Amino acid sequence: MSDWVDVIAETALAEGENIVVDVDGTDIALFKIQGSFYAIEDICSHDGAEIASGLLDGDEIICPRHGARFCIKTGAVKSPPAYEAIKCFPVRIDNNTVQVRDDRWD
Ligand code: FES
Repeated sequence: MSDWVDVIAETALAEGENIVVDVDGTDIALFKIQGSFYAIEDICSHDGAEIASGLLDGDEIICPRHGARFCIKTGAVKSPPAYEAIKCFPVRIDNNTVQVRDDRWD
């Protein structure tokens, strides 16, 4: 089972902001929405674009390359041209620090 990785201080992101963090060699886009943190892999399932620089629309991110939309909370695809979800990672707060865990190998 993988370990939780400290990524940022709980106060480091403003509402609606995101940051890309490296967790065990994987680029993960960490978002703060409505006071909660969500983490998805920073790679579009359509054609591999980084997704973190896309426009945020509520709890959806729009891929900057071809416009596919994904739910930040679940990674689910919401509109084409992508048809597969983006990997979503568990997030928790521990001692005022945001932690992410890559659970793909559990
Ligand atoms: S690479 Fe994201 S929609 Fe094409």
